[in-house]
Amino acid sequence: MQVLTESLQLNRDGALHHLLSTEGLPRPLIERILTTADGFIAVGTREVKSVPLLRGRSVFNLFFENSTRTRTTFEIASKRLSADVYNLNIAASSTAKGESLLDTIDNLTAMQADIFVVRHSQGGAPYLIARHLAPHVHVVNAGDGRHAHPTQALLDLYTIRHYKGAFPSLSVAVVGDILNSRVARSDIHALLAMGVTDLRAVGPLTLLPTGLEQMGVRVCTRLEEGIRNADVIIMLRLQSERMRGALLPSAQEYFRNYGLTPQALRHAKPDCIVMHPGPMNRGVEIDSTVADGPHSVILPQVSFGIAVRMAVLSMVASSQRSGSHRAEAAAPGSTVPHARANAGESTARLG
Ligand code: MLT
Repeated sequence: MQVLTESLQLNRDGALHHLLSTEGLPRPLIERILTTADGFIAVGTREVKSVPLLRGRSVFNLFFENSTRTRTTFEIASKRLSADVYNLNIAASSTAKGESLLDTIDNLTAMQADIFVVRHSQGGAPYLIARHLAPHVHVVNAGDGRHAHPTQALLDLYTIRHYKGAFPSLSVAVVGDILNSRVARSDIHALLAMGVTDLRAVGPLTLLPTGLEQMGVRVCTRLEEGIRNADVIIMLRLQSERMRGALLPSAQEYFRNYGLTPQALRHAKPDCIVMHPGPMNRGVEIDSTVADGPHSVILPQVSFGIAVRMAVLSMVASSQRSGSHRAEAAAPGSTVPHARANAGESTARLG
């Protein structure tokens, strides 16, 4: 299914048309996103924090699942690019009356939407939309089920590059509920694409998906071993909303074994950075002393997220879909492919 992912995300010139997943994103393209983000960092420090790149374009934020950081930073990013931004209030929309996702999309497209930023509890929802859209409209995945959260992974890469430089020499540990985490999946694909060879997945066996070793990820069930001499530790939240059945004895027990405390952190490199996508559960996966301590780069991650999302939005907006399958599908009387709700899930090799 790799081909499906790539052909949906990239146009024939290899430019980013939609951003759906980090899986299959070529390293030079990831580097281009990070370099483009570099240019937008300065915009956030200026008195006038905007550039006219998306003036006249309409960005619709469709968050079918809760979000604080992702939704707000997408909104800020779009506004800094001078786009017109519309935040659909899902609870007050016709979705609550049973309107289908694609009917909602069609109606918003009729309002001249240019970009949809989509978060959905169903893995694959942004793929369904991408296959359905007219060639001039773009979709950016802001998190779909357990499947992918590509802009989080890209801002994680940005943060790592900012503090640590070149990727191949780094030891990176991803710790926690990897089974249920779209951030972990997207991070793993992105870090491997950037050439990280010492990548560890750390957590209890019940929260580790199968297939990690085959991808070149070292699996560790003990925290001390998993973070030993690590340059980067990415902590994950326990995704209790996605857990099926009891996978853990208790949050206290989890913290005792996998919580990142100052004592545990001593096993990592002295200059190790600690990351977390948020929202954090203090006292469950991370101790407050670490979350607020000198190793933590959790808040800079949020700031970098704005520049990275500006980069993604500006890049998709400037790509053209030449001769896309959708152009054919949109012809009068043709059948729009509605039935690919899980197209994205099928590309997710983990778990
Ligand atoms: C996500 O939406 O996946 C978050 O950024 C991470 C989390 O919810 O734990």
